[in-house]
Amino acid sequence: MTKIRIAIQKSGRLNEDSLEILKNCGISIDNGKDQLKASSRNFPMEVFYLRNGDIPQYLRDGVVDIAIIGENVLIEKGHDIDIAVKLGFSKCRVSLAVPKSVKYNSVQDFEGKRIATSYPNTVKNYLEEKGVKADLHIINGSVEIAPNIGLADGICDIVSSGSTLFKNNLKEVEVMLKSEAVLAVSQKITEERKAILSKLQFRIKSVLQARQ
Ligand code: PRP
Ligand code: MG
Repeated sequence: MTKIRIAIQKSGRLNEDSLEILKNCGISIDNGKDQLKASSRNFPMEVFYLRNGDIPQYLRDGVVDIAIIGENVLIEKGHDIDIAVKLGFSKCRVSLAVPKSVKYNSVQDFEGKRIATSYPNTVKNYLEEKGVKADLHIINGSVEIAPNIGLADGICDIVSSGSTLFKNNLKEVEVMLKSEAVLAVSQKITEERKAILSKLQFRIKSVLQARQ
């Protein structure tokens, strides 16, 4: 029997809410923890637990058909991936921040400065639009520490509650984009699996309506 293959964040902030929405859709997944792959008993679905940053590539290659992922990740590296529906959870901003002690006037202040980020494309596009040239340092996590250790003058990262910025003595100065979890779809999905996707989307829409 054909199954739709869905990618879900292996660990991290999206993981629980992603499984929760599937559960609310009446889809039970047999979850052996530490298993990277699981199947549903009552819906034609296979779940793959993957690293966030790898998911766009899996979708692009068509080795998974759909994924629950942050829109921000798609904006960073998923230009050829479709969004079926916004899921209303994991809301966050992708923002620029600088040390609290810095007097900030405008985005022009980043001219010639060093910015640490895991979202180089997003920052590059944003700054290009504003005519600002900065020096990007790509790091994969704990970005907020960069100014404190002298690696960068500012950072670009996800802001949710703002507590990571606060704890690292940083202030949010530019909101580049707002994001939430979305159901993303591979452009390589087959017609047969599209039919399964329609059923899933129908259920998701009812769940989202009930949540309002
Ligand atoms: C994420 C993100 C920010 C923080 C934002 O990091 O990179 O640092 O959460 O959330 P907040 O505004 O509620 O504090 P995460 O904790 O996932 O770790 P990582 O950056 O090391 O991957
Ligand atoms: Mg972080």
